[in-house]
Amino acid sequence: MVDIHAHILPGVDDGAPDMDSALEMAALAVESGVTVLVATPHCMDFADRKNYWDSRLTEDMLYFRQMLKKEKIPLKLKPGMEIFGTSKTPGLFKEDKLIGINGSRYPLIEFAFHNYAAQATEILENVLALGLRPVIAHPERYKYIQSDPALLNLWTEMGCLLQINKGSLLGSFGRAEQQLAFELVDRGFAFAVASDAHSPIRRTTWMKDVQQLLTEEFSPATAKKLLDANPMKLINNEIIREAQPHWFR
Ligand SMILES: [Fe+2]
Repeated sequence: MVDIHAHILPGVDDGAPDMDSALEMAALAVESGVTVLVATPHCMDFADRKNYWDSRLTEDMLYFRQMLKKEKIPLKLKPGMEIFGTSKTPGLFKEDKLIGINGSRYPLIEFAFHNYAAQATEILENVLALGLRPVIAHPERYKYIQSDPALLNLWTEMGCLLQINKGSLLGSFGRAEQQLAFELVDRGFAFAVASDAHSPIRRTTWMKDVQQLLTEEFSPATAKKLLDANPMKLINNEIIREAQPHWFR
């Protein structure tokens, strides 16, 4: 499997607090069948937490790779970030302070969970205008999507791709999140399922349970597509043409 969303880099955000936790998360990923994982530290404009793509993050990434090698954990680590979308986001891309998944044209972007539909749509338009194709992190968790999922018709039509959290499918975030996550897979809106892991204990990198769920509730082909084939296309920066989903009315 290929996990495109994990807060595994030690000490850079609210994910792995230290190297031991990060290595434990990596070992769990491998044990559950993950071979490639994208480290996606939060990038935010908030004063107290500001990660941009700079030499410090690059060094953190390279050092963690060395540690994986030293500990003989066979996980291919790729660079990325989870970008909190604001009006500044398009400008930060122009300044090369943000990167897509493995440096591709596909940036992972999240939004505020409440009252953010209009702002999010405008930010997505401006990011798309740069020639990038946003991968929207966990849309099933946003309250304005839960109350009006038809907004996803628009975002998908604009060219955005949707990443669903494994925890949403497994019911860890609540009933509304789980119902919508299932519907997004069922209707063909989901492009990838990822861990959004933050720790080796809660919200982990373990992916076997969601693989089993997708296989049993949908099909082995769906599990393969969402957990492996599609995420690999992002890593490889392939040109992606998705079939039109079954729109919300
Ligand atoms: Fe995340």
